Amino acid sequence: MTLNELGNLVAERFTQTYGRPPRWIAAAPGRVNVIGEHTDYNDGFVFPMAIDRYTVIAAAPAGEAPARVQLRSTVGNGPASIDLAQPLKPAPKGTWYNYPLGVLAGFAARGVKVPGFDALIHSTVPLGGGLSSSAALEVSTATLLETITGHKLDPVEKALLCQKAEHEYAGMPCGIMDQFISVMGRPDHLLLLDCRSRQTELVPMTDGAVELLITNTNVKHELTGGEYAKRRAQCEAAAKSLGVASLRDATAAQLEAAAGKTDPVAFRRARHVIGEIERTLQAAKAVRASNWAKVGELMYASHASLRDDYEVSCPELDAVVEIARGIGPAGGVYGCRMTGGGFGGCTVALVRAESVQAIADRIAADYEKRTGIKPSLFVSRPAAGATVLRA
Ligand code: GLA
Repeated sequence: MTLNELGNLVAERFTQTYGRPPRWIAAAPGRVNVIGEHTDYNDGFVFPMAIDRYTVIAAAPAGEAPARVQLRSTVGNGPASIDLAQPLKPAPKGTWYNYPLGVLAGFAARGVKVPGFDALIHSTVPLGGGLSSSAALEVSTATLLETITGHKLDPVEKALLCQKAEHEYAGMPCGIMDQFISVMGRPDHLLLLDCRSRQTELVPMTDGAVELLITNTNVKHELTGGEYAKRRAQCEAAAKSLGVASLRDATAAQLEAAAGKTDPVAFRRARHVIGEIERTLQAAKAVRASNWAKVGELMYASHASLRDDYEVSCPELDAVVEIARGIGPAGGVYGCRMTGGGFGGCTVALVRAESVQAIADRIAADYEKRTGIKPSLFVSRPAAGATVLRA
């Protein structure tokens, strides 16, 4: 289904729900990170792409005073009613509409007046699958609010507004990767993002000979739990003990020299981050050269580092990577790794396009045999970032 077709479907559902057609429709994608994991909050590099899975929001003016926003989702959430005349504050932790609420608060903080509206949210990004369903919800809300109010945000400011919503309303201290790629994704391109300077480079990925195959382990990934925040704190502590502002500024040699004086856990966390930043830059170079064997090798190394040094993988993610490795280059697999925060969710594999179906079948069968869980697999080309479908 194309994005326009998806928009039309959501428009129909909106009309069924509210008894009138929507005036505005906006969409924002989930993402898969090809490489550069847990580097964004260390001022490093990340290399994600938008996937052709979207959160779509359709809305129409509510036309009654006092102004309020009514939110529903097609999976039966809501209605949530937000009174725009009152100061906005987060709903209890875990409340589904905290993401759009945080984005509304970001517009309010900029003095942008939002009129009342009714909205319906529909998503094809798997929830809790590590493909940034939350960023897709934040960025689609921000895109809708830009359309409704006419207050257009600079893309960097928009991504930062959404990240703040996630920090303050969802209670998840995320980095900037997910919101940036959801705003800035471009068809046929990966995004190399320098998380310190916030400079971006769109790297073309047009070679039809390879595909990115995403495997959802269907083990729910839960990041608002403490592990993510704990990793962040360990990285900050490691940077401090090395005497640098962030791990971006540390070298592998510097870390080795400090081995005896550094806490062993902090040492391994830092080793992952320093190595991963380097691998990300090498991967960007290899993608520019269509050197798929090299990209694949870096992906496997990234996974091993996330599993052993950063300790954010899980047996199910490791199982997919082992199966992929077993298929190997002869079977059309160049590389595979967990993607996103970890502790469940998805892997991403770089595979030969002509073998993709056979590879997907084999991973699905072997994974189920090993874990007893049915995985979900799909392929995505690099897709478009946030899009206004009806203005
Ligand atoms: C989550 C966060 C991102 C990033 C990744 C790990 O997806 O939202 O900011 O830190 O984990 O790379």
